[in-house]
Amino acid sequence: MEKTLVILKPGTLQRELVGEVISRFERKGLQICGMKMMQLTDEVLTEHYSHLAQRSFFQRIKDGMMITPVIVICLKGIDAIHIVHQMAGKTNGREAAQGTIRGDFSVSVQENIVHTSDSYETAEIEINRFFKPEEIFDFKQNNLSFIYANDEF
Ligand code: PPS
Repeated sequence: MEKTLVILKPGTLQRELVGEVISRFERKGLQICGMKMMQLTDEVLTEHYSHLAQRSFFQRIKDGMMITPVIVICLKGIDAIHIVHQMAGKTNGREAAQGTIRGDFSVSVQENIVHTSDSYETAEIEINRFFKPEEIFDFKQNNLSFIYANDEF
């Protein structure tokens, strides 16, 4: 099973969409194996968004992520990285399809509700960036045989 990282951005907390977004992941059948609220720092965000360092909005996006605490979540499931990225929708909320998280709750490129890992490599790095090993819980999900066929997991 794969693990992936989701960050519920400050706007998601301000707009009281935390339960709505987490509920979508739960209802899909993904397992929450780590979750916490944390205040991000410029240092960790400089690393997290290092691929955007040359972009004009680099400091703005970092500042936006520090306005309030965020909620970081580690989700687990078969193909979880792709599924969660698809559920988030296109980066720009104005272009994201209806039914996706950004399509339903965002009209912005930056204020787009969630960050989600976009590849296997990124997911591993990002989970380690925001969670200590002991904050990830690999407990048995009791309803697994109702989420997948027996030969799928
Ligand atoms: S990009 O620009 O091709 O790298 O786009 P993408 O990989 O989809 O986006 C990466 C993150 O950059 C944010 N972003 C922006 N913020 C502010 N202004 C502009 N113009 C902008 N373009 C992209 C976008 O919200 C992504 O943040 P995360 O946290 O990864 O969702």
